[in-house]
Amino acid sequence: MNAKKIEKFYDIQGLFQCPLCNKSMFFENNSIVCGNHHCFDVSKKGYINFIPQQKELKGYDKTFFENRHEIFNMGIYNHILYGINQILLEKQEAEYVIDAGCGEGYYAKNLKGMNKIIALDISKEAIKISANGNNNIYWLVADITNLPIRSNSIDCLLNIFTPANYSEFLRIMKGNGIIIKAIPGNSHLIELRQAVKQYIHKEAYSNQNVMDYFKKYFKIINHLHLSQTFPITAEQAIKLYQMTPLLFNVKKSILDTCSISHITIEAEILVGKRI
Ligand SMILES: C[S@@+](CC[C@H](N)C(=O)[O-])C[C@H]1O[C@@H](n2cnc3c(N)ncnc32)[C@H](O)[C@@H]1O
Ligand SMILES: [Zn+2]
Repeated sequence: MNAKKIEKFYDIQGLFQCPLCNKSMFFENNSIVCGNHHCFDVSKKGYINFIPQQKELKGYDKTFFENRHEIFNMGIYNHILYGINQILLEKQEAEYVIDAGCGEGYYAKNLKGMNKIIALDISKEAIKISANGNNNIYWLVADITNLPIRSNSIDCLLNIFTPANYSEFLRIMKGNGIIIKAIPGNSHLIELRQAVKQYIHKEAYSNQNVMDYFKKYFKIINHLHLSQTFPITAEQAIKLYQMTPLLFNVKKSILDTCSISHITIEAEILVGKRI
């Protein structure tokens, strides 16, 4: 066991609460335990698994995260990352930033100037990829509906292209904390959706319901619309197709990649605070 990978968690052990009984937690050997003896191991790779019995969610398998990782390496999501880092420039005093639903870790690993970054996902496959390499991030396998984090402790919560649980987010956010939520823009991946339009329920995607729901919980203090279109190859189009939940229900064999030469990557970034 790499001692450093465990010891780094000692700095933030006061941040955790048991996801089973809500008691506070402390480290014992290679595990974190609560007063009721609920015990979760720190893995060799340096993450804590708070849901050891978790079954894989449909669509979110190892290939999904590997494809996502390759697509991020192409740089076509850099403008979204840039926008998030611009917002964080005004939060440089933040002690704790959490990426809730971090996937393979692209955003968490590339945040600028942040102090302590906790990144979690329900998928162990995602966290295994994320935890690779040298970084100071605290990786967790955890569920956004039952976060192993104490109330009122997080300065800034990221929720990027990921499902949300706003009452749980509000519980862990400090009073003056902010949430940065990224949702697909209405033209996100439009070229892919047009290529399979006869196989999907609705060719047009609308994020209105997601925006309206966010506004029920948070006052919007900033809103960025970020959109760029890039040339892509047929091979890249297939990878994109395999890394987006927007097309989870479409059979992978039917994509005619000849019709796709460009792709639009578009997001709405909503920044909210408590109402
Ligand atoms: C489309 S991916 C986005 C991941 C990452 N933010 C990114 O942009 O690459 C959605 C993520 O939400 C995670 N997820 C879904 N339900 C979750 C839950 N209840 N708790 C934590 N993560 C969840 C999935 O495992 C997946 O990694
Ligand atoms: Zn417990």
